[in-house]
Amino acid sequence: MVFDVVVIGAGAAGLMCAAQAGYAGRRVLVLDHANKAGKKILMSGGGRCNFTNLDTAPGHFYSENPYFCISALKRYRPEHFVSLVETHGVEYVEKAPGQLFCADSAKEIVRVLMTECEWAGAEVALKTSISRVERQGEGMRLTTSMGTIDAGVVVVATGGLSIPTMGATGFGYDIARQFGLEVLPTRPGLVPFTLSDSWKERVAALSGVSLPSAVSCKETRFVEPMLFTHRGLSGPSMLQISSVWESGSAITIDLMPGESVAEALRHARQETPKRLLSTWLGERFPKRFAQALQEWYPNAELAIPLAQYSNEALDVWAQRLNQWQLKPAGTEGWRTAEVTMGGVSTHAISSKTFEVKDLPQLRFIGEVLDVTGQLGGYNFQWAWASGVACGQAC
Ligand code: FDA
Repeated sequence: MVFDVVVIGAGAAGLMCAAQAGYAGRRVLVLDHANKAGKKILMSGGGRCNFTNLDTAPGHFYSENPYFCISALKRYRPEHFVSLVETHGVEYVEKAPGQLFCADSAKEIVRVLMTECEWAGAEVALKTSISRVERQGEGMRLTTSMGTIDAGVVVVATGGLSIPTMGATGFGYDIARQFGLEVLPTRPGLVPFTLSDSWKERVAALSGVSLPSAVSCKETRFVEPMLFTHRGLSGPSMLQISSVWESGSAITIDLMPGESVAEALRHARQETPKRLLSTWLGERFPKRFAQALQEWYPNAELAIPLAQYSNEALDVWAQRLNQWQLKPAGTEGWRTAEVTMGGVSTHAISSKTFEVKDLPQLRFIGEVLDVTGQLGGYNFQWAWASGVACGQAC
């Protein structure tokens, strides 16, 4: 079998690339070992796929080379993808500012991509394993469970390592290493935190409680809701900060973002000196959390009127609520991570065509590269943009 372009990976980036290459007149084959195309798309955004973010800009991506993503993101913008889904009659909603989700189901996005591949004449072969990728004359040769396939260009779109049960493998990294490319260390990103035993027990009792929060680690801060789980901490702010967190470091949680607890308590002491601190906490936090605070910290302290609190004692509470320092034990790892930090270094890759600079027959797109977006639809926008740029250049 001979194809102009063989794409490895029928995920977001791979299908997008295949359709574009097909429209450009190339004979295209997409190979995937999974039994379904776009499995991660199907499970994304709680089954409704946050398929783009209207605020997409390079600042929302992590990479050793922060400039690498600029060209592709500039050329294929969120409006382009929105226009594509509209062409296919997909209804969508803006659930949070800039974050677009399918109104109905993520299946719609897979339908769009598969239809595009069909219209462009790109073939998709599922349940196909690939055991070897090598150079063959001017092109590439793949040894697969379908037999030997010769290709002018091989595009690696195998994604990251998260959720191995959905078909994630490190095959793309193996191919990169085989051809002498650097693969930067990988770690789970956008992943819930686990806590050490004492905190885990306390927090588990709050499982399901969500609070506004501002979470910071090193120089980075995210103001979004957080969620207590039976294993630790999750919710948008925690997932976001997990991408910059390194094992052993602490995170700082502000449970009343935008409000100085020290000032608010001083004001309350002056206005309502007889009020108990426990009453004050109960007015500001969900009942279960306010009760938990009373269990975490000595009861006697809370059951006295605010008038009896010294400034120092109020400051202790301000510290607990505005600057709660916590050292996560770890993260839930690849099992639940949404993305992979690190991956194939972009240094040897063209940011315009995604070809390996000294081996243009080989290309890498999507999450397998060392480009990772923040939470909110940025990762799919990267998949679309890199897929389009590469597909058009194949
Ligand atoms: P993707 O993972 O989509 O595709 C890779 C393909 O390669 C898969 O089909 C896989 O089977 C195949 N493959 C792997 N190894 C292979 C091998 N050895 N041989 C053959 N095929 C192989 N992002 C976002 O922007 N908005 C969102 O709402 C979400 N939500 C979300 C939820 C969850 C639970 C997860 C895990 C992830 C998200 N993401 C997300 C992230 C997003 O899913 C991800 O960044 C993109 O799918 C990456 O697209 P790729 O095409 O690069 O990889």
